[in-house]
Amino acid sequence: MSAAADENPLAEGLRLRRRPDPCILVIFGASGDLTEKKLMPALYALAFRHLLPEHFGIVGAARTEETDDEFRERMKQAVKDHARDEFKDEIWEPLAEGMRYSTLDFADDKGEDALVETLTKLDAERQTQGNRVYYFAVPPSAIATLVAEIAERRSAEGWIRLIIEKPFGHDLESARALTAEINEHFTESEVFRIDHYLGKETVQNMLALRFANGIFEPIWNRQFIDHVQITVAESIGIEGRAGYYESAGAVRDIFQNHLLQLVAITAMEPPIDFTADSVRNEKVKVLKSLHTPGPKHVVRGQYGRGFVEGEEVRAYREEEGVAAGSETDTFVAAKLFVDNWRWADTPFYVRMGKRLARRETTIAIQFKRAPHPPFEDGAAEGLRPNVLLIHVQPNEGISLAIGAKVPGQGMTIRTVHMDFLYGGAFREGLPDAYERLILDAMLGDATLFTRSDEIEEQWALVDAMVAMWQRDKTSFPNYAAGTWGPAAADELVHKDGRSWRRH
Ligand code: BG6
Repeated sequence: MSAAADENPLAEGLRLRRRPDPCILVIFGASGDLTEKKLMPALYALAFRHLLPEHFGIVGAARTEETDDEFRERMKQAVKDHARDEFKDEIWEPLAEGMRYSTLDFADDKGEDALVETLTKLDAERQTQGNRVYYFAVPPSAIATLVAEIAERRSAEGWIRLIIEKPFGHDLESARALTAEINEHFTESEVFRIDHYLGKETVQNMLALRFANGIFEPIWNRQFIDHVQITVAESIGIEGRAGYYESAGAVRDIFQNHLLQLVAITAMEPPIDFTADSVRNEKVKVLKSLHTPGPKHVVRGQYGRGFVEGEEVRAYREEEGVAAGSETDTFVAAKLFVDNWRWADTPFYVRMGKRLARRETTIAIQFKRAPHPPFEDGAAEGLRPNVLLIHVQPNEGISLAIGAKVPGQGMTIRTVHMDFLYGGAFREGLPDAYERLILDAMLGDATLFTRSDEIEEQWALVDAMVAMWQRDKTSFPNYAAGTWGPAAADELVHKDGRSWRRH
């Protein structure tokens, strides 16, 4: 246990999790950004806390030619650049000893054979007992072939788990086809579709907030809540990922997965327990009850030139690899309705986009106004309705806006905030979502992964939106980088007599 946890009574009991079985983690797509920026730093953080299996190995696989040593060197640099903990040789060396690299052309059987050979050897050296976690950080089109190859070469010994990065398919049809192809060889309990937002501490804390406290559930419904606002704003652009982003757009990159999962977590009924199926059964009910928004309830955007955090930035259409007349969306806002008993007629205003004014992911639960403020005219002029604001990132925490009397003579009421900040209460840095999720997959716990029926519901909604956009074109660019999106996104809320939360 770290010193901080020792001193902090709130952190007690934090490290009582079971250690996973011995295994090898195979990363397909090991030459990509995700491996360097997220996966390797997460593995290092797990090693740092002694949470990895005692017998463990990592095999990177990708098309790029690389030796074991070059791979280790690249990963070492990735840890130095991106890990949240200081670099320590005594943590790195044992991890690096179990690292191998295998060049693999996804269409070529030879590469597969070499990979199997590497794995068999490593099994013997590291005593990993044939257990495998395969991480697919590759485009959806490469997954089916790899899965079939893995199944074909499956040995009798050990278990297999497949972690599949988003996007899972490109639309409902391709997602269904991919599920069918995987199901030919593996059961749902062996498949872990990752949506890293579910691994974020603050997103899990939404479940704690709602279901570990008696005071919120009774008012968590249409009778007390006026509306919900969910914002996933990023100040970054597409960061050199034009190849992927041009065919995905904001709607497939974040709306289809992260954003709809935040809606599901906010709106779901209490599960009977915290097992994978109970939690996912409740989430899928929300996704099923989402009403497809009509054209007047959806806004699409694409950024033009502008200034972000004081720096001049290019328009989306000027980014490298993006077509000059690209119709790809970088912003989506929508007014959604969860058509069920709890939420009928309560709008969920959601918005997400790249190159917005700043990075901010929040869930705001806006309560109805007090029915009859008994104060003199003007006393409560500056008072806003109660808002419970979940800061998913950055400045992770929760804040409740309440009306309070301004000290002094008379009765003047203003809005003040009761704040809980993770940094203040728990004093330790938050783990990255990937740490939690990689470990959960090794432990076989799928609670924080999305099930195929959830993915399908998410695609059904997105497909309907995309079909609508093909009929009604929007002229792009329609917002300047560094702003909060197109004017139409403001109108979407204003015409209901509401406004987006103040920034
Ligand atoms: C990824 C998207 O899933 O999430 C990226 O592909 C996006 O485009 C990223 O930048 C945001 O993740 P986070 O954890 O930084 O909010």
